[in-house]
Formats: sequence, C-alpha cells, structure tokens
Amino acid sequence: MSEVPEGIHQWLSVDQFPPHLQKYWFQRYKIWDKYDQGIWMTEDAWFGVTPEPIANKIATHIAESAPKDKTAIVDAFAGVGGNAIALALSGRWERVFAIEKDPKTLMCAKHNAEIYGVASKIVWIAGDCFEAINRFTGQNNTVIFASPPWGGTSYGEDDVFDLTKMEPYNLDALYKSFTKISKELVLYLPRNSDLNQIAKYVPEGQKLEVAHYAIIGASKALCTYFGNFDFELAEE
Ligand SMILES: C[S@@+](CC[C@H](N)C(=O)[O-])C[C@H]1O[C@@H](n2cnc3c(N)ncnc32)[C@H](O)[C@@H]1O
Repeated sequence: MSEVPEGIHQWLSVDQFPPHLQKYWFQRYKIWDKYDQGIWMTEDAWFGVTPEPIANKIATHIAESAPKDKTAIVDAFAGVGGNAIALALSGRWERVFAIEKDPKTLMCAKHNAEIYGVASKIVWIAGDCFEAINRFTGQNNTVIFASPPWGGTSYGEDDVFDLTKMEPYNLDALYKSFTKISKELVLYLPRNSDLNQIAKYVPEGQKLEVAHYAIIGASKALCTYFGNFDFELAEE
C-alpha cells in the first residue's frame, strides 16, 4: 500500500469511516469498482464524486454524440477523478485535461487514475478552472465537461432546484465562462434542476439534450448537453 498523505484517506473498514460518512462505506463499490485496490478520497470528495457506472455512461454519451472534429475534452472540476478517469477510459479523446483547485483532491485524482491505468493519458492542471480554461481560447477542438459543486446537499430539499442560487457558481456564471471557450459544454447538475432556467440558454429554434442518470433505480443527477451534440447518432 502506498503511503497516504495527510488529509487523504484510504479507508479499508467501516469503523475507519467517520459516522457522518458511513453510508458511503456501503456504496463504495458502486462509486469505485476498484475501491479495494487503494482508492484515495478526501472527506469532502464522498459527497461530490460521480459514481463509476454513471461516469462511464456519461463518457459514452459524450464520446458518441460530440462533433467528430472535437478531439480534446476538459474536465473543469476534476475532483478525485470520477469523470476524468471515465473520459480517458473511453478512448475517444486525443487529449483529456483535468483541472482541480484543491491540491489534496488533485493528488487523489492522479492516484486513482493510476489505479485505472489512465494517469498518463490525462493532463493534470492544478488551479482555478475559470482562469485555467483561458488557455483553451481559440482552440476549437475542445469539449468542456463540468461537474461543479452544488452548494452542499440541501439542493435535495427543494422540488425544483433554483440554479440561479447554486453556490459558489450559479448556472449563468458557469454557462458564460465555459461557452466563451467552447460551444460544446456538458454540465452535470442536480437531478431536480429547474429545466426552464436551463432552456433559456438554448438559441431560438435549437434543441437541448438533457439526460438523467440513475443508479439503484433513482435519478442521481442530470447532464445538459449544450452545443452540437448529436443524440440521434448516440441512441442505443
Ligand atoms: C462536485 S466535485 C467534482 C467531482 C468529480 N466529478 C469526481 O467525480 O470526483 C467539485 C470539485 O470542484 C473543485 N472546485 C471548486 N471550485 C473550483 C474551481 N474554481 N476551479 C477548479 N476546481 C474547483 C472542488 O475542489 C471539488 O473537488
């Protein structure tokens, strides 16, 4: 077992889990199929990591529906690597970039990508995605995937989640910052997100694909596919 840095955990039994996180012990293999191979997590990461089956499904949908001239993808909020690893595993991209501002979380992502055999296929960028994304200006081969923080778990208390109040970055901030770099933008948002607010960003006469991703029979989240994604091609 490699040495685990402070603030990072490789918990291998239920009693190592802090009480407020114990439900995740029972979900660990749904989140990471290779959990026992030494996955690294921070405490916060348990709340935000995309479970592997969902990350794989999203990666497949993006791979199949993105315009063919798009050869690179940026995961703007890489976290501990759930999505970045799946995007790299899809084999669809010449380049996968993963941006994460928290250094410990980024260490976890790199380590977890090693477990999945794709660490060297991902270009890791430490820092703020709203700054780092500017390096992609003018490159029109890039798709952006973003799974931002949702402002804690309280979003689930509302029937319809108001995306203007999402913290720390609301829908408008995310949409404007990322679509100035790439029209093709996939946002991973709470399952109860207000679809009317999302629809306002769709140009007149165009359609927007929204997909719910479920695990154990319940929707976990949705993805909005802004830009020229072709889901006729991607239909299963
Ligand atoms: C919901 S988590 C992403 C989870 C990720 N999809 C995964 O599967 O592990 C959001 C992540 O965004 C990071 N983050 C928040 N603001 C950021 C910013 N401005 N730039 C880069 N990363 C940021 C947080 O540290 C956190 O790790």
